[in-house]
Amino acid sequence: WLLPAFVLLISYLLGSIPFGLLLTRVTGAGDLRQIGSGNIGATNVLRTGRKGLAAATLLLDLLKGAAAVLIGAALIDNGGPMAGAMAFIGHCYPLWLRFAGGKGVATMMGVVTALHWPAGIVFAVVWLGALFGTRWSSVGGMAAGISAPIAMWFMDRIDLVPVTLAMTLILLWRHRANIARLAKGTEPKIGAAKG
Ligand code: G3P
Repeated sequence: WLLPAFVLLISYLLGSIPFGLLLTRVTGAGDLRQIGSGNIGATNVLRTGRKGLAAATLLLDLLKGAAAVLIGAALIDNGGPMAGAMAFIGHCYPLWLRFAGGKGVATMMGVVTALHWPAGIVFAVVWLGALFGTRWSSVGGMAAGISAPIAMWFMDRIDLVPVTLAMTLILLWRHRANIARLAKGTEPKIGAAKG
């Protein structure tokens, strides 16, 4: 049991690295907690006006999810899904931030891509389509999250549906403030003057 416990811990710790927060702090781009939605993800980094930093946040949050899957799969038989889920949980509920972390879109994209890359393509296409179609980052992220278990199902990866669905439910729960703002009509669009 020691190896699985170690893999789960490493995955959680990897996922819990808040790249958006670290990059904006180190570069003096501002305190994400005081900007826009207060979230630690790439969308909110974009609201500092630093596009490069936002892209780096997206990439690093994605890569940590994918890396956890690969580490889990390398160390334990069929360990990828559990390790990926732990990295996702680490991102959303990091110890360092008193469990108040991100919303999981980029990290879930990395996990889904590493588990079954065609589903990762669906995730990315749905995300970009809904994002550019509506200009709401949250709508793009939630649509992509919902697409993942459906894609796994239709791609005959029924084995990956439970873990993907669990991540989708957490992702939607983490977007509850966005959902409330969307319902009230106050959710800011990407590229709007004020975010
Ligand atoms: O990935 C987070 C995104 O879906 C929403 O971010 O900052 O608009 O709440 P934000």
